[in-house]
Amino acid sequence: MLSIELERDTHRDAIRTVTEAAFAASEFGHNGEADLVDALRKASEQTLGFVAIQDEAVVGHVMFSPVTIRANNETLTGMGLAPLSVLPTNQRTGIGSQLVTTGLQHLSSINTAFTVVAGDPKFYARFRFVPAFNFGITHGFQGMPQSIFQIRFPSPEDDPEKKHVREGLAFYLPAFGPQHENFS
Ligand SMILES: CC(C)(COP(=O)(O)OP(=O)(O)OC[C@H]1O[C@@H](n2cnc3c(N)ncnc32)[C@H](O)[C@@H]1OP(=O)(O)O)[C@@H](O)C(=O)NCCC(=O)NCCS
Repeated sequence: MLSIELERDTHRDAIRTVTEAAFAASEFGHNGEADLVDALRKASEQTLGFVAIQDEAVVGHVMFSPVTIRANNETLTGMGLAPLSVLPTNQRTGIGSQLVTTGLQHLSSINTAFTVVAGDPKFYARFRFVPAFNFGITHGFQGMPQSIFQIRFPSPEDDPEKKHVREGLAFYLPAFGPQHENFS
């Protein structure tokens, strides 16, 4: 049976193993994701991690850390989903999806204004992520296509009752690396 739980200190070694294995077998990533997970925990108390447990072992992990969007006259804080890792032997069985779904439900319960992710739109569209560029929201990572940068608001983008932030630049925690103010 699979369960998704908030990560605890006792999961940390297993999370490192899962993260390294997932990204080593992936065309994405830069091999620094396990260190990034540790750095994000230290960088902000708002960072949230969830583990997927199967047969008492950690088989997947997802992390959410604060992201700010600087628009014209306001700064809005939400969360960024990264990294997401599932052990290669356990992939394509729905574990990644359950980690994302549970994480988003939790963020919704604490009234998170938005969630962003940089990843394959084919995977993330099913969770109602849409291209951030639709809202004029961009990231500042050099070399990363804007087309894979996506955003999800708690209510659908066509909800006339909601005003979603527009025309802004998103900033992840510095642990993610340099982000440029005027990158386009
Ligand atoms: C991406 C990842 C977390 C998905 O985990 P998973 O447990 O295999 O995901 P699921 O089983 O919930 O897959 C759900 C769907 O996504 C699809 N999918 C999985 N990985 C995908 C990928 N890299 N690209 C496109 N689609 C993908 C599956 O085919 C499946 O689609 P289907 O239900 O229509 O068959 C996992 O492949 C992984 O750890 N990859 C290496 C690290 C990585 O790339 N992380 C994401 C960085 S943004």
